[in-house]
Amino acid sequence: MSIIEANELFFSYTSDEKERVVLDGLNLNIQEGSFTAIIGHNGSGKSTFAKHINAILLPSGGSISVCGIDTIDERKLYELRKSAGMVFQNPDNQIVATIVEEDVAFGLENIGIEWEEMHRRVKDALIAVNMYDYRKRAPHLLSGGQKQRVAIAGILAMQPRCIILDEPTAMLDPKGRKEVIDTIMKLNREKNITIILITHYMDEAALADRVIVFDRGKAVLDGTPEEVFDKEEMLLSLGLDVPQSCALIHRLKKAGIDIETTALTPEECAKEILSAKEKMV
Ligand SMILES: Nc1ncnc2c1ncn2[C@@H]1O[C@H](COP(=O)(O)OP(=O)(O)OP(=O)(O)O)[C@@H](O)[C@H]1O
Ligand SMILES: [Mg+2]
Repeated sequence: MSIIEANELFFSYTSDEKERVVLDGLNLNIQEGSFTAIIGHNGSGKSTFAKHINAILLPSGGSISVCGIDTIDERKLYELRKSAGMVFQNPDNQIVATIVEEDVAFGLENIGIEWEEMHRRVKDALIAVNMYDYRKRAPHLLSGGQKQRVAIAGILAMQPRCIILDEPTAMLDPKGRKEVIDTIMKLNREKNITIILITHYMDEAALADRVIVFDRGKAVLDGTPEEVFDKEEMLLSLGLDVPQSCALIHRLKKAGIDIETTALTPEECAKEILSAKEKMV
């Protein structure tokens, strides 16, 4: 079942009386329970698309519906935002309270959930992101990765069906990046929450079920990570990269070595190099 459906989605900004098309007739369906990565060079329209998912921006043309709700339907705005939560790049901008558990409870307090239910949901959300032991801490003293996990818990407490993360790891160190990516993969697998991850890190995109490549407001490539990262030349021409493992294997292939080109991770890469080596002797 599709949870997000964009049909001929157009969006343009007008500045200095000039119109700038940012989304250019985008057609996309995203399946419930899937983990999709969106990549694309700076300014290709990724964040603008993300902001259409929970009606921070509304289409200039075409339409987008999320969980069956057309985002222009103002009467259902609250239901829409509850179903589709957003996590942004800067963890510091997402903290609203001085104690972790109060921060996670913030959204629930706003919608008047009763105390016991709120307490239960905050506890479950903090356990799910592995931050329960930090519930009494001050959020501003946490690491970047921990802050992002608290932000994810705040959204999780609203019991969303879909979480959109717009470069959630851009400001984190490698450890923080891994914590956040492990967390969203766990939520996808164990709670069947649909994940849309916008990222500039190709190794993160390689972990998704599906990779969509944006260029000038259009989806120009769409497939499994294996399919998309096999198109190295096209990605390079779009100002993107491939995961290092893919790049290495492609180089070996170009050098005339008989090798499979589906490796995405260093482990798979090592295996394919070994089996190519066995073929050679
Ligand atoms: N508020 C705004 N007013 C005018 N133009 C804008 C506004 N916000 C974004 N844009 C323009 O829209 C285009 C798409 O921006 P968007 O933020 O969606 O790109 P992006 O793919 O997320 O890029 P990045 O990888 O840098 O985050 C850019 O050219 C940007 O300059
Ligand atoms: Mg962006």
